[in-house]
Amino acid sequence: MPSSEHAPSSDTVTPDRATRPRVTLVVARARNGVIGADGRLPWHLPEELKHFRTLTMGHAIVMGRRTWESIGRALPGRRSIVVTRDTRRELAGAERAASIGEAIAMAGRRGPDPSIATDEVFVIGGAQIFDLALPLADRAVVTEIDLDVDGDTYFEALDPRRWSVVERREHRSASGVYYTIVDYRRSGATVA
Ligand SMILES: NC(=O)c1ccc[n+]([C@@H]2O[C@H](COP(=O)([O-])OP(=O)(O)OC[C@H]3O[C@@H](n4cnc5c(N)ncnc54)[C@H](OP(=O)(O)O)[C@@H]3O)[C@@H](O)[C@H]2O)c1
Repeated sequence: MPSSEHAPSSDTVTPDRATRPRVTLVVARARNGVIGADGRLPWHLPEELKHFRTLTMGHAIVMGRRTWESIGRALPGRRSIVVTRDTRRELAGAERAASIGEAIAMAGRRGPDPSIATDEVFVIGGAQIFDLALPLADRAVVTEIDLDVDGDTYFEALDPRRWSVVERREHRSASGVYYTIVDYRRSGATVA
């Protein structure tokens, strides 16, 4: 389902805008908006994964349960918070949140590892969780991959009336794929 900027209707906790951490979406999307296929990333770009690692290191990362399962483990040096309605699921090395609001509020408080920063939280997908987080997001770091790929999970391009580009960095992978990392800041008001 494409992402759209709407109020988070099913959420039970909406953290206070003044006290919550900066909320940053991190997404890699193909030219046609695809971000996933059959529960996985539909490309192999180690350089892009390295960028993701550098960006998120030392911070909390918030993800949907399907993305958690797709990654398959807690990523080192980060605090993993998994959004799920399932109160019994085993999440080794991760914390559970019942809503995106709860996840963001948790990320703004110290967790088990005091070295993890609480000033900015990275929402790392997938599409369902991007949909919930988009109205709350202050920043989005989008890797625009110069490919059209088949897939079943999408992220809509950000609305230029609400988002401004602050930086664009163009790259070419060792395998010859061109991609651009675009750092956006919200220019319109957040919903909460
Ligand atoms: N290219 C990228 O940047 C990128 C990034 C991340 C993921 N992906 C891809 O995206 C795909 C997965 O995305 P997805 O949209 O299918 O799943 P997802 O967003 O990762 O996870 C969906 C799950 O989140 C939980 N959830 C959703 N809404 C909720 C709510 N309102 N309250 C509580 N929990 C809620 C549910 O977990 P329960 O069913 O456990 O309740 C739901 O099944 C994969 O293909 C993955 O590889 C791509």
